[in-house]
Amino acid sequence: MILVTGATGTIGSDVVRQLAARGEKVRALSRDPAKAHLPAGVEAARGHHRDRASVEAAMAGAESAFLVGVFGPDDAEHDRGLVEAARTAGVRRIVKLSAIGTGDPRLGVFGTWHLHGEEAARASGLEWTLLRPSSFASNTLSWVAAVREGTPAPNMMGAGRQGVVDPRDVAEVAVAALLDPRHAGRTYTLTGPETLSAPEQAAVLADVLGRPVPLHGLSPQERLEQLRAAGLSEHYADGLMAAARFIQEGGNDVVTGDVREVLGRPARTYRQWAEDHASAFAQG
Ligand SMILES: NC(=O)c1ccc[n+]([C@@H]2O[C@H](COP(=O)([O-])OP(=O)(O)OC[C@H]3O[C@@H](n4cnc5c(N)ncnc54)[C@H](OP(=O)(O)O)[C@@H]3O)[C@@H](O)[C@H]2O)c1
Repeated sequence: MILVTGATGTIGSDVVRQLAARGEKVRALSRDPAKAHLPAGVEAARGHHRDRASVEAAMAGAESAFLVGVFGPDDAEHDRGLVEAARTAGVRRIVKLSAIGTGDPRLGVFGTWHLHGEEAARASGLEWTLLRPSSFASNTLSWVAAVREGTPAPNMMGAGRQGVVDPRDVAEVAVAALLDPRHAGRTYTLTGPETLSAPEQAAVLADVLGRPVPLHGLSPQERLEQLRAAGLSEHYADGLMAAARFIQEGGNDVVTGDVREVLGRPARTYRQWAEDHASAFAQG
């Protein structure tokens, strides 16, 4: 049995889908299993990474677990709690979804969000694998409304390049690590095959869609106001501002060969992701 947390999300849902397609026994944790739309044969468990008892109950009888536990600056302890719950429940192998740049002091507070969970995994005595993906290609789904309306989408990252990674590749690496003990003790930094700035991603998307994808660069003040207007705490907004600065200054201009090393094939390009998701940007 493999327990997947974050099972209805970007990475977790694809981990569930890929494991189920391979005939693995999967249990999917969700706050609302009725809305989870799980593949046939996947067992649903109700719970939440901030509710330790629910996580421990869901992990009972599982041999491996995929851990998604950080959604903001206040989740460090809950993320660590996922690792502890796995150990308590007798899980043997864990794969933790972390983030590129974790522990890099130049990333400021943002670089600490996954640190506790990573340290807990390394110290757990379990077979552990840490996945540190770069920016997901799917983040550009936040441009859908603007693209449909023909208005500029906001860009918080300036011309800073990132090794944009296809979430399907992240999920495929997670599945490999969940199934194969040879990935134990490894920390993989997962990127696409090239680095791209937001304007370069917009140009690729425009080419795929056959219409312009304009961006509107936000000043730091505009950026902060948008984050506050979205209801984020000062602490949260500070973290995202620090990350945006780091990216703008070229700190995340990084490509690795880790996807190729694990999967034995090149990482997917942003263009491939855009071609496969073009329908999401089509007018209603
Ligand atoms: N986006 C990126 O570019 C990027 C890059 C590197 C690393 N990461 C890391 O990837 C992780 C997120 O992975 P993901 O995108 O697959 O997750 P996600 O889609 O945002 O969320 C996964 C699931 O977790 C539950 N969830 C979402 N927000 C929550 C919240 N605020 N509190 C509690 N539960 C919540 C939801 O499930 P239910 O409603 O079913 O419970 C959701 O379907 C984060 O830890 C992030 O640091 C992201």
